[in-house]
Amino acid sequence: MQIPWTKPDFWGNEIKYVTDALESSWISGGTYLDKLENDFKKVLDKKHVLAVSNGTTAIHLAYLGLGLKPNDEVVVPGFSFLAASNIALHMGLKPVFAEVDPDTWCLSPKHLPKYISSKTKAIIPIHTYGNVCNMNKIMRIAKEKKIAVIEDCAESLFSKYKGNYCGSFGNISTFSFQATKTITTGEGGLVATDSEDLNKKMMLYRSHGMDRSKSFYWHEVPGHNFRLTNFQAAMGVAQFEKINVILSERKRVYEEYKKHLTGVDGIVLQKIEKDVDPVIWALALKLHSKNFPQGRDKVIEQLREKGIETRPGFFASSLLKIYKKHSLPICENISRHVLSLPTFPSLKNAEISFVCNELLQLRK
Ligand SMILES: Cc1ncc(COP(=O)(O)O)c(C=O)c1O
Repeated sequence: MQIPWTKPDFWGNEIKYVTDALESSWISGGTYLDKLENDFKKVLDKKHVLAVSNGTTAIHLAYLGLGLKPNDEVVVPGFSFLAASNIALHMGLKPVFAEVDPDTWCLSPKHLPKYISSKTKAIIPIHTYGNVCNMNKIMRIAKEKKIAVIEDCAESLFSKYKGNYCGSFGNISTFSFQATKTITTGEGGLVATDSEDLNKKMMLYRSHGMDRSKSFYWHEVPGHNFRLTNFQAAMGVAQFEKINVILSERKRVYEEYKKHLTGVDGIVLQKIEKDVDPVIWALALKLHSKNFPQGRDKVIEQLREKGIETRPGFFASSLLKIYKKHSLPICENISRHVLSLPTFPSLKNAEISFVCNELLQLRK
């Protein structure tokens, strides 16, 4: 049996709508973009939603919208996919890496205050693997200190915290439609906000900073090109039509993994707090060295020999040469021991059984 870590699933009208966009000759802008933005605006209950070229440019746009300037500080978790800090470097901002919670692996509100300084302009909670950060506590700290919050929801589209979708809490929220994500357009993303002012700025920066209301080719600000194409949006619209199937299949996959792996000696699943109703993007767990003395990387190799593709946890920022500043013991521990297993909606229960049995056989 060969089981990939991820696989894009097409459930409905993807080919039809992409073909329609191509045949319409509207391949850059077009009505599928409007539809995609409106679909998300409604479901996320946001006043403004902009489709963008990917989840990284969504974060870049959020920084530009907030008017962040060189040497401003942004607080980001030291364990996560590091797009938010990479973009910070591109803009001359200073990413300040914060510890995460040892169980949920998300930005820890307990540790957060010590990373905030007079230069902090934004906090970026990154909702990792489908989990959602403790947004009540994070928003309380941010409001008290008058700091903007950008929620990076790339891995947690449609996960809920206290009954609200992640992305509902911060000043700006960003999403990714990259190939592995819950909804995909190949590459793509969204940025959402309730602020008229932020939206106006981000709209300008998304498309060369040009203000067409003044004149064609009038650059109001030095913008970029962060646009999504109409034919990619067409794929997103088709995926969105099948969101109920996608979400219920992802839930099934998560429940099935839990049946096999909860309470197993030597394996600890990422903790999901009771306030969180997750849409798991990647099933992730920590391996205890006592039960897996060969180490996580060897386990990845052993599973590969059985035809199962898995992935290690993200490198903690403090383990990377480009970022190494201060050590982050919790992030580093998670980084060294986390393994994520195949997770995608069409993964069958029999395949999940096979993955779990093979993993358990590697346990001492
Ligand atoms: C948490 C997180 N943020 C941002 C990104 C970047 O998104 P994209 O690949 O669409 O640029 C990713 C990964 O894809 C991610 O996992």
